[in-house]
Amino acid sequence: MKKLRVGVAGLGRLGRVHAANLAFRIPNAELTAACTVTGTGVDYAKDELGVQDVYTDYRRMLAEADIDAVAIVTASADHCEQIGLALDAGKHVFCEKPMGVDLAQCKRAEAAVERHPGQTFMLGFMRRYDKSYAYAKQKIDAGAIGVPYLVKCTAMDPASAAADFIRYAKAGGSGGIFLDLGIHDMDLMRWYLGSEATEAHAMGATFRHPEFRQAGDDETGVVTYRFANGAMGMMHIGRIGPHGYHVETEIVGTEGIIRISAVPEKNLAQLYNTNGVCTECVQSFQERFADAYLAEMEEFVSCALGGRQPGVSVYDGTRSTQMGFAAVESWRTGGIVKIG
Ligand SMILES: NC(=O)c1ccc[n+]([C@@H]2O[C@H](COP(=O)([O-])OP(=O)(O)OC[C@H]3O[C@@H](n4cnc5c(N)ncnc54)[C@H](O)[C@@H]3O)[C@@H](O)[C@H]2O)c1
Repeated sequence: MKKLRVGVAGLGRLGRVHAANLAFRIPNAELTAACTVTGTGVDYAKDELGVQDVYTDYRRMLAEADIDAVAIVTASADHCEQIGLALDAGKHVFCEKPMGVDLAQCKRAEAAVERHPGQTFMLGFMRRYDKSYAYAKQKIDAGAIGVPYLVKCTAMDPASAAADFIRYAKAGGSGGIFLDLGIHDMDLMRWYLGSEATEAHAMGATFRHPEFRQAGDDETGVVTYRFANGAMGMMHIGRIGPHGYHVETEIVGTEGIIRISAVPEKNLAQLYNTNGVCTECVQSFQERFADAYLAEMEEFVSCALGGRQPGVSVYDGTRSTQMGFAAVESWRTGGIVKIG
């Protein structure tokens, strides 16, 4: 069997998920190299992944490693430059969201993809590969809810991980809560509504951890969007989910409604005791979307080996990032921001 040889760049919270999938769970992929700028990442690659070809310089990995493709899971501000370097070096590219943290960067990434039409490029909007989200899309396309006219989203990271997210906000480079956390819902709104956003109105608040504000970010955000076809989007994002990692999406149509993960159950078990009926909830994005991260990487490997392009394109990356920029600008200025 022909295998795709992949080098992973970034071995942090999500890089380790992708690296482990490539190393152990995808038969037609081989993790042959890794690049990380932290010492613990080097040890992890060698000891846990069994990858001995480890770099601390991304350009060196591209130049020297025995790889056909890269998986970019580094800080968001570096993605677009790393996409261009990898494509110009002849590699297929999988890149995590958000594609970039400014529009000029995204346009440069588009140009790099257009320079290399024979190489596969995929952006990591894994929710499209989650079984429930994909099922909702099939139902909508089959007309099950009539004309979809409203997408309502909630995405809350768990309060138990707030210290990590404060550190993340202070480090900068994530684009802030709207781009970092809201980007998945922005992509889903476009996908389900089949239309592009034309204006955004956002606001934010911080009630529990002032450190978010001090870092120039916010703890909670709300955005409403108008779309070109008249449809609407409502998004609530936050860093202090009291019960765990809460991701919920509702698509409202003229003939029906689809709800996904209204209660983010860990499993189907319920505990009946003096507190009532308790259902444990998932506690992290790694837990909730484990299958989706695997499915999207399987699709990337299959596309690269088969000379195909996946359903998520570089233009999806730019469009959703534009929605994120508009939300950030509206949050800063308080006004409605048009999306050109
Ligand atoms: N799809 C999702 O659900 C999802 C979830 C979490 C994070 N992400 C995205 O994944 C990316 C990484 O996030 P994270 O939470 O894993 O971050 P993290 O801070 O935990 O890890 C970042 C890693 O990148 C490495 N790194 C930084 N610069 C590098 C370089 N030039 N070359 C090689 N390695 C480099 C660091 O050593 C570290 O290992 C971000 O863009 C984030 O938005 C996506």
